[in-house]
Amino acid sequence: MPRYLLTAALPYANGPIHIGHLAGCYLPADVYHRYLKAKGEDALLICGTDEHGVAITLQARKEGVTPQELVDRNFKVIHQAFEGLGIVFTHFSRTSREIHHREAQAFFLDLYNKGFLKEKTTSQFYDPVAGTFLADRYLVGTCPHCSFDGAYGDQCEKCGTSLSPDELQYPRSVLSGSVPEKRETNNWFLPMDEMLHLPEFATYTERIARWKSNVKGQFNSWVQQGLQPRSMTRDLDWGVKVPLEGAEGKVLYVWFDAPIGYLSATKEYMDLQGNPEGWRDYWESEDSRLVHFIGKDNIVFHTLIFPMMLAAHGQMVLPWQVPANEFMNLEGRKLSTSRGWAVWLHEYLQDIPGRQDELRYTLLCNLPETKDADFSWQDYQLRVNSELVAILGNFVNRVMVLTHKLSDGHCGDLPTVEANTSHVSLELELAGTRQEILLAMEQFRLREAMAGVIHLARLGNRYLAETEPWKLLKTDSEAASRVLRLAAELCAELCIALEPFLPFTASKLSHQLQWQASAQEREAWWNPGSADSKGTVDARTRYLAQGHRLGPAALLFVPIEDELIQAQIHKLSPMNDSKLENDPKPENKSKPENTPKPDAELKPEVTYDQFAALDLRIATILSAQPVPGADKVLEIKVDLGDEQRTVVSGIAQHFQPEELVGKQVLMLTNLAPRKIRGIVSQGMLLMAENQEGQLVLVGPNGNGILPGDRVS
Ligand code: 2FM
Ligand code: ZN
Repeated sequence: MPRYLLTAALPYANGPIHIGHLAGCYLPADVYHRYLKAKGEDALLICGTDEHGVAITLQARKEGVTPQELVDRNFKVIHQAFEGLGIVFTHFSRTSREIHHREAQAFFLDLYNKGFLKEKTTSQFYDPVAGTFLADRYLVGTCPHCSFDGAYGDQCEKCGTSLSPDELQYPRSVLSGSVPEKRETNNWFLPMDEMLHLPEFATYTERIARWKSNVKGQFNSWVQQGLQPRSMTRDLDWGVKVPLEGAEGKVLYVWFDAPIGYLSATKEYMDLQGNPEGWRDYWESEDSRLVHFIGKDNIVFHTLIFPMMLAAHGQMVLPWQVPANEFMNLEGRKLSTSRGWAVWLHEYLQDIPGRQDELRYTLLCNLPETKDADFSWQDYQLRVNSELVAILGNFVNRVMVLTHKLSDGHCGDLPTVEANTSHVSLELELAGTRQEILLAMEQFRLREAMAGVIHLARLGNRYLAETEPWKLLKTDSEAASRVLRLAAELCAELCIALEPFLPFTASKLSHQLQWQASAQEREAWWNPGSADSKGTVDARTRYLAQGHRLGPAALLFVPIEDELIQAQIHKLSPMNDSKLENDPKPENKSKPENTPKPDAELKPEVTYDQFAALDLRIATILSAQPVPGADKVLEIKVDLGDEQRTVVSGIAQHFQPEELVGKQVLMLTNLAPRKIRGIVSQGMLLMAENQEGQLVLVGPNGNGILPGDRVS
């Protein structure tokens, strides 16, 4: 029987957790772990805070606190927020703990003694003003790939490319702003070029062929580009000290020490369990399946560098799966913590208490499993109101209320298989959906599995609509009782199916039903092909005993009001002032002839950076329609290549909606979303104004330009 060692990327303790982190790896890791446990598998989920590296020291400097103060505070905030959302780790540790320092140093020494870490003198950027070497994020400059002038020495956060300090154009020090000089220093390098040929690594690379294409793609592109030795130490004073003589003032590279955090946290957990050798079952046994849940920016470290470290160490399992997710955007724009463009988990839990599963559900429905996805507050409201309330909550509520009406909450007999075609077809469809959920889970397609679980409730609603127990109540109470009993069985089944995804709801439902699934019942449901879980009526007699009395009915979900959504959208951007709630009021465009237009004069000059901050793209108009009650604006849907957006534009008096469809236009895509006439407008269409004050479309309309193409 396999053993599962699941890890979720150790979050940097430089700030709290936001929805991008959740969708990237923490929610999938929690759901998959809960699923394995429900299946009866032996599984650990390991995580903790990543407390070293320049991400920490830079933030501490910005906040005017010590790195230790910063990580102490954020550890608590992060840990509590995870717990608040029901993300349950087997163990949650910290890389600043003594056990981690000891383990990371021992790992380093092991590789060093085996000849895998080679000392080399290189010249590195040095800040003569601050008197320090400029590791990783201490160096900024212009990205050679996308020209973003704020790329770090190790990565451009704009285009996601990994960089080395020498690739940066116009490098400068973050510490003093000065132009750095080059100075020689010694560091220890992992010969990645040679390690690719380690025998342990060869069998591992065969495994990658069945991984997700985004993960495979990044892995292959790194290998094809040709691997170079990579320094595993840094000239810094915050981190795990390099355990060698003559290495004073040097620490382990944060990407060397952090993944060892998975190992040290497992050891810490096993020590606490009084089973100090227990970690070996998960890290050294052939039966163990190591699964790393990460976001796409961590792929190279988890598929290449850490596996090489494990292979070099020897006797360690290498990853079995790395189901990395792409990025989650927010209201159509990249999340940006510095610009406040994020939904923070701890704030969500405070602002919207008791709605954990509403957030879990919206994120799970939009997981960026194959490509970047988007979270929007409108979608959140829609999913809660039209899926959780209208499908799941409604089904359960109808069953509860009707059963109380009929028999004071007592469950009756189950219908026989022959009883009614609706029963039979419900049985078959439930069984089919269950199989789809199981398959999706096995293949890490959590988004699809979540949809499958909601479909179970949808089938229940259809069954009630077909059998109409509310009518039967009056005419044939026995028939009504059988229908409601079968529907109550489906509620019990939903309890089991919901638990990995929406645990708060599963527990509320279990409370309402006054019934709790046993471990065997859960295992039978989640194991494909298990004998007593074929989805037949007989098989389900086991959930609720005849005569079982349901608890009082209570709503599982309540609709989300517009005000709550507006408040959250408003909170996103401090730029959103009261103007945003109103319609744009275009000026009166008809001006006396020959009067110079007031805006014909040039506006004050802007810097290049101000211009570069604008994200201008070509959009194709998919549809345009009037907005009821507003004669100046049109609701326009546009295609931006990778995504579609809605824009509310004050152009209704200049164009007929139908003449816009199919036209290419210039669009400002990173304008903060604004709510106009109750519709969230996600950008602005740019137009020219002729001498008559008439608006004219500006767009390439052809020339090989595609929606989403950048204008710069
Ligand atoms: O990207 C990050 O947030 C890193 N702190 C992830 C580290 S994962 C692991 F290797 F520890
Ligand atoms: Zn870039």
